[in-house]
Amino acid sequence: MTTTSSTTWAPETFLTAVGHAVWAPSIHNSQPWRFRRTAHGIDVLVDRDRVLPVGDPDGRAARLSCGAAAGNLLLALAVAGAPGTYVLGRDDALVRLTPAAHRPATPQEQRLFRAIRRRHTNRHPFADQPVEPGVTARLTEAARLENGWLDFVVGDQAIDALAALIREADNRLNADPRYVAELRAWTRVADGAVEGVGRQAGGPAPHPAELMARRDYGGAGQRESRDPAREPVLAVLGAHGSLHTDDVRAGMALQRVLLTATDLGLAAAMFSQPVEVPETRRRLRLALGRPDDPHLVLRFGYAPTLGYTNRRSVADVVES
Ligand SMILES: Cc1cc2nc3c(=O)[nH]c(=O)nc-3n(C[C@H](O)[C@H](O)[C@H](O)COP(=O)(O)O)c2cc1C
Repeated sequence: MTTTSSTTWAPETFLTAVGHAVWAPSIHNSQPWRFRRTAHGIDVLVDRDRVLPVGDPDGRAARLSCGAAAGNLLLALAVAGAPGTYVLGRDDALVRLTPAAHRPATPQEQRLFRAIRRRHTNRHPFADQPVEPGVTARLTEAARLENGWLDFVVGDQAIDALAALIREADNRLNADPRYVAELRAWTRVADGAVEGVGRQAGGPAPHPAELMARRDYGGAGQRESRDPAREPVLAVLGAHGSLHTDDVRAGMALQRVLLTATDLGLAAAMFSQPVEVPETRRRLRLALGRPDDPHLVLRFGYAPTLGYTNRRSVADVVES
């Protein structure tokens, strides 16, 4: 019996997989993660220096992003024929991967893996094109497979109420000069910068009368007060529980939802303003009838790709 394959991954397999993990989403593209190859596997660690002091004071969004990055890592390892299994940690090593028995990647893993580099946040106007039947069920199932939940918000009244909550939270955040300074520090960066959100990826400046209040990433103004989609497809994502490990699970669920959406040809936008303000987060939870706080509002639809964010190099995010 050989034991070498059950210790840890080869350095090159590790580095290649990390090269895919970093394409996970993170608030303002802050990339709050590090990856460590250990004697037993790979640890995904939160990078405390990159947790936003104003936007994410308790590190919730950072833990979510580490979960999303771990999701990418697991897919990349599976597709390399060297799959892993994991446990969630309680210290800075949020996800601890260990090698599992060799097996070929499933067709689903291959599809989701191929979506990693195509996935991105789309802040441009969405077309007035209804999502195809069955899509919402597929996305809900994607969240469930990672022990998360995704609740679609349907009907004019519920959509208007959610939009009003986002607007209220956005107004409250923008009234705080520290929030505005932090947002500015991470945005308006050069297109192609290795962190933060450039103008092209950031989309047009939000219009004051737009239904869904978007953050201002420094883009030029748009003429329309609303995008063409008559009824936005909106959903709220969360995990069962309120422990730190549940934030990581929410990130794994988010990543599977986003990769599934990408694979289905959908564009996705994110709105986290209402979960960043404790009062609106509580009201969103009550409106959904969920026992636990939601993590993110998502919008799905069809829109052309007009800009991507970039990432730091693998060398910048690995430690040994
Ligand atoms: C927790 C979290 C909160 C986010 N909040 C917002 C948001 O409110 N508005 C927005 O346009 N994008 C939001 N994003 C998207 C990030 O800005 C985006 O993931 C990052 O800039 C990297 O770009 P990419 O998703 O295109 O790869 C959020 C992402 C995460 C993970």
